[in-house]
Amino acid sequence: MMKGFISLSISALVLSGSGIATTLVGSTVTTPLSSFELTKGAACACSKLSRAFSGIINPKSANYTAQAADAYWDVRADLSPACIFLPSMADEISKALQIFQTCDAQFAVRGGGHMNYPGSNNIDGGVLLALEKFNKVKVNAESIEVGPGLTWYNVYEALEPYGRAAIGGRLKTIGVPGLSLIGGFHYFNNKYGYAMDNVLSYDVVLGNGTRVVANKTSHPDLFWTLKGGANNYGIVTKFTLKTYAIPKVSATIQVFNESGIPGFLTAVCNIARLDEKDPIAAGMVATVQYNATTKVASASLLGVQEGVSQPPSQFANFSAIPAMTRINNVTTMRQWASSLDTPKQMFRVMFSHKTMKPDQDVLISIYKAWKDAVDQIADVEGLYPTFVTNVAPAGAARVGLTNGVGNVWGLEAQPYILWQFSTGWALAQDDLRIEAWSRQLIERLNAINIEKGIASDFIYMGDAGEWQDPFAGFSAKNVERMREIKASGQHTEDKRNGLIQHGTPANTHQVPNWVSVVQVAESKGWHPLPSFTSHPANAAIGTNEKCDEAKPKCQNCVRHGVECNFNTPPTTASTPTAGLHTGLSPFVSEATRLSSGAAAPSMGMAEMALLHHYSTSTCFTISRHPVLQTVWQTTVPSFGFSYQFVFRGILALAALHLAHLKPDLQDQYVDAAEYHHNLALQMVSATIPQINEENGPAVYLFSTITCIIGCALPRKRDDLWVSNDRILQWLSLFRGTVSIITSVHESLKSGPLAPMFTLGRRRSLAWEARSTASQTFLINLRRLIEEAVEDPIDLKCYTDAIDDLGKSFATIFEVGSQNCETADIFIWLLRITDQFLNQLQQRTPEALVIFGYYCVILKELEWAWWMQGFSIHMIRAIYYHLDEEHRCWLQWPMQQLGWVP
Ligand SMILES: *[C@@H]1O[C@H](CO)[C@@H](O)[C@H](O)[C@H]1NC(C)=O
Ligand SMILES: *[C@@H]1O[C@H](CO)[C@@H](O)[C@H](O)[C@H]1NC(C)=O
Ligand SMILES: *[C@@H]1O[C@H](CO)[C@@H](O)[C@H](O)[C@H]1NC(C)=O
Ligand SMILES: *[C@@H]1O[C@H](CO)[C@@H](O)[C@H](O)[C@H]1NC(C)=O
Ligand SMILES: *[C@@H]1O[C@H](CO)[C@@H](O)[C@H](O)[C@H]1NC(C)=O
Ligand SMILES: *[C@@H]1O[C@H](CO)[C@@H](O)[C@H](O)[C@H]1NC(C)=O
Ligand SMILES: *[C@@H]1O[C@H](CO)[C@@H](O)[C@H](O)[C@H]1NC(C)=O
Repeated sequence: MMKGFISLSISALVLSGSGIATTLVGSTVTTPLSSFELTKGAACACSKLSRAFSGIINPKSANYTAQAADAYWDVRADLSPACIFLPSMADEISKALQIFQTCDAQFAVRGGGHMNYPGSNNIDGGVLLALEKFNKVKVNAESIEVGPGLTWYNVYEALEPYGRAAIGGRLKTIGVPGLSLIGGFHYFNNKYGYAMDNVLSYDVVLGNGTRVVANKTSHPDLFWTLKGGANNYGIVTKFTLKTYAIPKVSATIQVFNESGIPGFLTAVCNIARLDEKDPIAAGMVATVQYNATTKVASASLLGVQEGVSQPPSQFANFSAIPAMTRINNVTTMRQWASSLDTPKQMFRVMFSHKTMKPDQDVLISIYKAWKDAVDQIADVEGLYPTFVTNVAPAGAARVGLTNGVGNVWGLEAQPYILWQFSTGWALAQDDLRIEAWSRQLIERLNAINIEKGIASDFIYMGDAGEWQDPFAGFSAKNVERMREIKASGQHTEDKRNGLIQHGTPANTHQVPNWVSVVQVAESKGWHPLPSFTSHPANAAIGTNEKCDEAKPKCQNCVRHGVECNFNTPPTTASTPTAGLHTGLSPFVSEATRLSSGAAAPSMGMAEMALLHHYSTSTCFTISRHPVLQTVWQTTVPSFGFSYQFVFRGILALAALHLAHLKPDLQDQYVDAAEYHHNLALQMVSATIPQINEENGPAVYLFSTITCIIGCALPRKRDDLWVSNDRILQWLSLFRGTVSIITSVHESLKSGPLAPMFTLGRRRSLAWEARSTASQTFLINLRRLIEEAVEDPIDLKCYTDAIDDLGKSFATIFEVGSQNCETADIFIWLLRITDQFLNQLQQRTPEALVIFGYYCVILKELEWAWWMQGFSIHMIRAIYYHLDEEHRCWLQWPMQQLGWVP
């Protein structure tokens, strides 16, 4: 994400022996797919792996593209690993993990597959550990041992001669580890529970390389937490699965035209509610497709029932609906799965999903709203929209509740429908638009379910978008237990031996998440091992472009900004403001309005209320300088009238301000903020490629607003992850605005925003002139660093950053906290070199400690509601990343901030 502004760093760690021509750390490596910055960690790990093992694949190897791209279902997941390792024994995984730890390298793991999105099982610039050589099966009397490189088809194939079946994926290409570790929907959940409930034993390599067996008696806590805890606790090298005597299944394929869809969705609700004493195992894949070009909608049922009764009795309610196609057959699991292939590299795809109690009227209205909304994006190239329903009957949850083991979901024995949008498209330029569309639509519709009291917080990882947080929907008790298990196993001796566990709910509050990024570079940590996923159909292959190159960082960071959840507690509300609250949730009013369908949603009372709040209150909270306050009060909204994205940005900011002021309405205001900001993002992404003198100031303003939003966005519910690269994301966001300044410099200097720049320039001249000699705390820091760092170039990079820090401290001391301007605080971030940023990105202790000192300066900005808690949040993250020795270096800033571990 930092690509744009980290240019060459000179430290010459050489990637030797791995077949790449000598490559410098910090340089850009071009791969057949894209390019990445070579980090010290990756260079070190790839080099050590090459010395220890043969067959390491690097970007120049013939098989690179086959591994880094062709193996994936979602084209978005094609990334550029620095090297790829295909271990074939558990000991090799142990060794690799030790190397990753020694080198502080980032890596991702890919097994047989389930999750689709970028980073869930592939990585840019890190090491990809692909488990495809773990491809052995061993059939026992009532179980089967399976390697994580296999798919469920392999399992069904191995069991067929024995007349048995395991509880696994419904389609051919779904992987064993992915589905098992995230929970696992199958046709037979109603009787046998989820895939996770049917794992008898796991062979696991822990983060520190130690191998253990987790079963009911050996490491029972780990055993429990692997049941749905995803890839956060280790790399599983073997699954032992329970099998059942299911020699034959009775299957049905039924396709309905549009008139049949309401009946189809009703039948879905009925089958979810079915809770018989002696259940017949039966389940399905139930989807609705809509072609926005031909305007044709259809529904399809792929139903499977154990036994040979034909037609399958459990699907009687579907069989009663007039169908376009209806085929019944008695067959085997293998035979059935063999026909349900999903091609790799199929398209770009975004999932979004929510859970509800079965209610056919609501489900039908959701389907209709989805279909209307698809029409609004009909122009997207390669659009492939699917509305998916999954049933979670009471019987499925009951298995976990009664088998003496349980699972991390802790669902109560109640029927649920999981409804999902699975949206495919062709071009990278539409990524942002599709994400915003999908998220807004699903949140809006779910808000209606919340009002009706039929929504559940449960989120199934396998159907969730990368922006969703499944842990938030698990029972709090279970999440607490997951935390404890994580904490007990790990981080006592070496905080990084928990490497695999990185990013679990368990470490959110103790271990800095952006430390030794594991599995996944930029994602949230809850993802399961492996690769492709789950949808029947065949379609266009998308291109392999990365984000829009015109202003990539900006878009990226803008997007990350949305997801920021800095650790700002909803602090004590100050006096109620003049904000006019209509009593109507802004969210709900939007929802109603949007269901009426116009492309750019119109505005109404809720928006007026937000604008009013902005003009009477929020606009005074961004700067303390009277001139700038006037700019924010009058000039900025006037931009909003010409550029709707600025307007929406203002509304989002006002909504967040209200969320801060009214904690009891926090959720709905944060929702409103996200809603407006997402709409704005959709609009601005169309503008950014054509940035010019005229629209430049508006884009700059939006980008500034986004930065503030990034800082201000509070924790929604008990958010259980902390993004790995929080500080860097925030920095890139911040410096992204600067790249806009430079590209449209003239219009900013002379236009209506000129006061911002004149003031900023005066401040920065004064800053330049300040002397830095006399601050003892910095002299001490400098001395420590001079003793520790040998490389003269690195050393200069650090001491320059310290000198600049000196100027900022001098500024604060001279002008006084009261008169300190936003520009005085942020200037250091603009002045530090790309090389220093690079060090920060590599998390060298020196760079982190220097940043820790900067937190003391950041604190000066905490008069603003949107910065509150920010400096403590940062220093805490830094502290937990450092080893004991460097923690001592951090004493001074910790004292200044009044923070103790
Ligand atoms: C590359 O792929 C081919 C065909 O799949 C295989 O025979 C060969 O061993 C692979 N090479 C490496 C280095 O993995
Ligand atoms: C669990 O694993 C251990 C170690 O492999 C083994 O000795 C034990 O028999 C297993 N227990 C069960 C219940 O399978
Ligand atoms: C759907 O199929 C039924 C039964 O074949 C038919 O009566 C109905 O007219 C069809 N509806 C549409 C919209 O094609
Ligand atoms: C079929 O629908 C009826 C209600 O119309 C319901 O009572 C019954 O349980 C359903 N049967 C199945 C197998 O879903
Ligand atoms: C029905 O099942 C048999 C046995 O598995 C298989 O050979 C045949 O192709 C199937 N027929 C259809 C129409 O799927
Ligand atoms: C929709 O229909 C058009 C025209 O028949 C076709 O080209 C396109 O592939 C269809 N889209 C999907 C998603 O099936
Ligand atoms: C690795 O971690 C496990 C779990 O905490 C521990 O039991 C084991 O001793 C550790 N192994 C090493 C080599 O440190």
